[in-house]
Amino acid sequence: MAVKPPETIRVELGGRSYDVLVGAGLLDDIAHHAAPFLESYCSRPVPIVADTNAREHHGGRIEASLGAAGYETVWYDVASGEASKSWTSLEKLTDWLLSLGITRSDHVFALGGGVVGDLVGFACSILKRGCGFVQLPTTLLSQVDSSVGGKTAINTSAGKNMIGAFHQPSLVLADTTSLATLPPREMRAGYAEVIKYGLLGDAEFFAWLEANSHSVLAREDEPLKYAIATSIRAKARIVAEDERETSGVRALLNLGHTFGHALEAETGFSDKLLHGEAVALGMVLAARYSARRGELSGEDAKRAAIAIYASGLPAQVNELGLMCSGETLVDHMRHDKKMEGSGTLPFLLLKGIGQAYMARDVELSDVAAFLDEELGRADGALPT
Ligand code: GLY
Repeated sequence: MAVKPPETIRVELGGRSYDVLVGAGLLDDIAHHAAPFLESYCSRPVPIVADTNAREHHGGRIEASLGAAGYETVWYDVASGEASKSWTSLEKLTDWLLSLGITRSDHVFALGGGVVGDLVGFACSILKRGCGFVQLPTTLLSQVDSSVGGKTAINTSAGKNMIGAFHQPSLVLADTTSLATLPPREMRAGYAEVIKYGLLGDAEFFAWLEANSHSVLAREDEPLKYAIATSIRAKARIVAEDERETSGVRALLNLGHTFGHALEAETGFSDKLLHGEAVALGMVLAARYSARRGELSGEDAKRAAIAIYASGLPAQVNELGLMCSGETLVDHMRHDKKMEGSGTLPFLLLKGIGQAYMARDVELSDVAAFLDEELGRADGALPT
C-alpha cells in the first residue's frame, strides 16, 4: 500500500516561519524530513532529549532512520511528569547541552509530550542566547497544542509555566502512529484540546467532531489525521496573527483554561485531573457560565457538554468530589498568569458554538456564586 504523503502546515511568522508535518510514520523517515536541521551534525552525534516512555517506544525507529543516513545519536532522558519542568531539570539539561558543545546554529530534538517540549524549548531559548530546536510530539495534546506556537516554560513554586519564553521551533513532526501507544485516558485528555478548536472558532469542525469522535479516539488513520491537521491549522492561523498573545486573538486558545486551571490547582496538578480533563471541564463551565449570563443559548451550552461527555471526558464538576467552595476556586484564579494589574481577569466565554470571545467585565464574586451552584452547594456550605 502506498504511504500517504504528510500534510504540511506552515506557521507564518516572517523570519521565524516553520512547517508542521502531520502524517503516519514521520519518525521512520526523520532523516529526510528534518534534513536541513541535521546538517550541522556531520561529525557529532545528534542530541535528542526524550521522555523515557517516548524513547522506549520510538527511539529505535529514529535511530534506524538517522543511522541509515550516517548520523549518530546521543540521548538525554527526562522523567515523565510535570516535576521535570523544574529549575533543577533545566540546569542539568543546559549543562548537558553545553558539554556537547551545542552551537547557536545547531538544533536540539525534543521527543515526547508537552513536558519535554516545554523544557527543551525553554532550554534552547536561553542556551547561548538561543539555539534551534525541533519538536517531535508523541501525545495528542502536544501534537495539537503545545508543540506549535513557541510557548516554552518551566514551573516554579509560584505556579505552572511561570518562567518561560516565546521561542519558536524550526520544525514540528507530528507522527500520528506515535499515538498508537498512548493510554486511552491521555488520548481523551488531548482530544479535549481538539474539541476546543471547534468550540472557539469553527462550528463546522465541532459538528464533524460530534459525528466522528469515536473514530478519532479509536485512532483510525484518516479521521485522526484530519482532526489533528484541522486543529494545527487553526492554531497556526491564530499564532500567525498574535504570536505573543498581545492582541487578544491568541488568548482565545485559553478557552476553558481559567476554570480548568483552578480545578487543576485544587487537585494539586496531579493525576486526579489531567490538564486536558481540566480543560474539558473548564469548557463546560465556560459554556454554562456564558448561558447564565444570557450570551449563549442553553441548547448550545448543552451541546458543548454532551460533546465532551460523549468523548469520555469529565463534564460535571460536582462529580470530582472536591471539598471546596466556589470562592476557593476563584482564589486559585487570582493567581492565574492572565490576572491583570488592575485586578481584572479576562474570561474566555462563548456567544455560540465556534464563537469564543474575551469578556473583561466578569466579577469574580459572580463566578464564585456560579461555581457554588455547579459544585452543588448553592448556599456556599461545605459538605459535613
Ligand atoms: N496553549 C495555548 C497557546 O499556545 O497559546
